[in-house]
Amino acid sequence: MTTVRQTSKAQPAPATTLFLFGAHGDLVKRLLMPALYNLSRDGLLGDGLRIVGVDHNAISDIDFADKLEAFIRNEAASKVGNGADPLDPARWAKLAKGISYVQGDFLDDSTYQALAAKIAASGTGNAVFYLATAPRFFSEVVRRLGAAGLLVEGPEAFRRVVIEKPFGSDLHTAEALNACLLKVMTEKQIYRIDHYLGKETVQNILVSRFSNSLFEAFWNNHYIDHVQITAAETVGVETRGSFYEHTGALRDMVPNHLFQLLAMVAMEPPAAFGADAVRGEKAKVVGAIRPWSISEARANSVRGQYVAGELAGQALAGYREEPNVAADSTTETYVALKVMIDNWRWVGVPFYLRTGKRMSVRDTEIAICFKPAPYAPFRDTPVDEMQPTYLRIQIQPNEGMWFDLLAKRPGPALDMANIELGFAYKDFFEMQPSTGYETLIYDCLTGDQTLFQRADNIENGWRAVQPFLDAWKEDASVKHYAAGEDGPAAGDELLARDGRTWHRLG
Ligand code: BG6
Repeated sequence: MTTVRQTSKAQPAPATTLFLFGAHGDLVKRLLMPALYNLSRDGLLGDGLRIVGVDHNAISDIDFADKLEAFIRNEAASKVGNGADPLDPARWAKLAKGISYVQGDFLDDSTYQALAAKIAASGTGNAVFYLATAPRFFSEVVRRLGAAGLLVEGPEAFRRVVIEKPFGSDLHTAEALNACLLKVMTEKQIYRIDHYLGKETVQNILVSRFSNSLFEAFWNNHYIDHVQITAAETVGVETRGSFYEHTGALRDMVPNHLFQLLAMVAMEPPAAFGADAVRGEKAKVVGAIRPWSISEARANSVRGQYVAGELAGQALAGYREEPNVAADSTTETYVALKVMIDNWRWVGVPFYLRTGKRMSVRDTEIAICFKPAPYAPFRDTPVDEMQPTYLRIQIQPNEGMWFDLLAKRPGPALDMANIELGFAYKDFFEMQPSTGYETLIYDCLTGDQTLFQRADNIENGWRAVQPFLDAWKEDASVKHYAAGEDGPAAGDELLARDGRTWHRLG
């Protein structure tokens, strides 16, 4: 088997001061700092990066850097390397030299004066403000950055803001947040992050679709029967009960991660691989999702919630028994939806989406189900007895693509079996351990917005899920499933009533 060596695409990012708001939070420790370390390991940061933690707790610069080092070394080893010691001391020392800390309240103007002083002392006017905070701070922080003049760009100096999800909690709040951001900066300065776009396999959907002309030949409603998009998790809500209670599976996963996958599969070819062209096509296709009426939304959605169950021999608590969850909670931990895309390519092709916590396996995949052959010239093998065939794009954990085809089983009888042609990433590429944030951080530092969401992408996503939210306001009942099962029976019925079944997970 040929191993393809990755070529280094890239120059080191320009000198920048990177402010991490919410510096003591999990995102910074678990994902952003390991990603920055990996970028530095790969020579993509140059010497001019200053990392400034911003948070309300008091801590010295050195202690902050030491704390991050200890965390990455002890707890995030699996994210940064395979060896016993994931950090190369010389490499870390280089990165740590540029780490400092500002203690301040996000709502206090004097915090922003301290940030201005940091930029003035940095020797570069370039600055990125990364909002790894609770969402309630997004508009407040951005407003204050604007009022302090920190978002004014110079001819040689950029100012950018990175916003984590959740971006709003419905269409109205997402529109309000966009309006607030666009009051103090331009769209070119805003980097709305969705970590799914940092995943190699997600980016590969674009590359495979648009650099192999073969795909285009069957990528339409003549050959594709329907598309399934699944994000199944084995984890429960863990320590995030109070967040999840107000969020639920739909808001947490659908308008962002699952719609990103849908857009990658369903978008038209962009005229170029630039940010405007790619994001324009994505916005168009998500904007073409048919807006269901309330009663259609109710009929085309299933809400589920896990109760106590068992997975791999381990007894698991139900959602209502998790910390910070109400004993009578009706928050959904599973959702299955059917959506239709009203455009020339996809008319009549249902897209079935499902995501859930505490399912039987971790599996994020897109299964594209082909129409049966129109005529089977084999005696005794009617078309309706042939098994459906799929192209499966697995995002995680086994990254790759598999074509499911029918082939003749050896022997005198003309008997058919499903076989797979596969491409597993790990067989072809040397994969460095990564968190998925490396590309996104690097792209932000170098000013490439292709993998970030534009305002219209976000709003179109919320517009498509709003009917489900509205329908559930009237009826918030949930169907239960045992932890370790693949959702409630109603999730299977959503497809069964159309004569279809979910592709098996795993
Ligand atoms: C996050 C959600 O955005 O994505 C989590 O808030 C979810 O609830 C996670 O577990 C899934 O991400 P991944 O990369 O593990 O599929």
